[in-house]
Amino acid sequence: MTTRGALKYEGKAKRVYATDTAEEYVVEYKDDATAFNGVKKAQIGGKGAVNNAITAHLFPQLEAAGIPTHFLAQLSETEQRVRAVTIIPVEVIVRNVAAGSFSKRLGIEEGTALARPVVEFCYKSDALGDPLINTDTAVALGWATPGELDRIRELALKVQAFLVPYFAARGVKLIDFKLEFGRTADGTVILADEISPDTCRFWDAQTGEKLDKDRFRRDLGGVEDAYNEMLRRVMAPAGT
Ligand SMILES: Nc1ncnc2c1ncn2[C@@H]1O[C@H](COP(=O)(O)OP(=O)(O)O)[C@@H](O)[C@H]1O
Ligand SMILES: [Mg+2]
Repeated sequence: MTTRGALKYEGKAKRVYATDTAEEYVVEYKDDATAFNGVKKAQIGGKGAVNNAITAHLFPQLEAAGIPTHFLAQLSETEQRVRAVTIIPVEVIVRNVAAGSFSKRLGIEEGTALARPVVEFCYKSDALGDPLINTDTAVALGWATPGELDRIRELALKVQAFLVPYFAARGVKLIDFKLEFGRTADGTVILADEISPDTCRFWDAQTGEKLDKDRFRRDLGGVEDAYNEMLRRVMAPAGT
């Protein structure tokens, strides 16, 4: 049994609780959805359960593929036990196809394939809108060491190499995704946070239909259905 202790952090999509051991936290996934740095807010029914289940299904497989993660166990429909880390305030985006802020910033039409994966780093700051940075910035401001950033890039590309064929085998094109990494007490860098329709762009491979948070951001409707469909596909065996 894991006893949920004091609330440590509350973010936009999850709550993090202390446990009876300093090395572990409980993460609770909420139905709350925000976009445009908290300007747009709503509830997406069942989102917490979907994102918890998807993350709990993928992280052990990433671990098996050689990517150390914070995931320990799913505790309930909306809770999981994780390794406590100090989050490195650098969001890592991996892109396969132009979309979102990349398209906007560079004037590249959404849906344009990229000749190789693009790894971007952003400063994790809601107040500033998660601005794009480079590795020099992260080192100069003491957010991460050069060695940590090399490791983060290596791990992000390993996640990419696992996820792209995983989703392709389930009829989903992985357009881009955002990762967060943290340090354990002994300084090891591990993958933290979540991988879900909140943090990835998923397009149906046949129709191009969006199956992710862009349905909420862009008022496309069918938000709950898209999240449920992604849960179904993630849990499905390859080739179905
Ligand atoms: N293993 C972990 N240890 C400590 N903090 C974590 C861990 N995994 C995720 N977090 C942090 O939990 C917070 C809550 O998550 P979330 O609601 O997604 O936040 P945000 O609003 O920043 O996106 C975030 O700051 C996230 O970085
Ligand atoms: Mg988050």
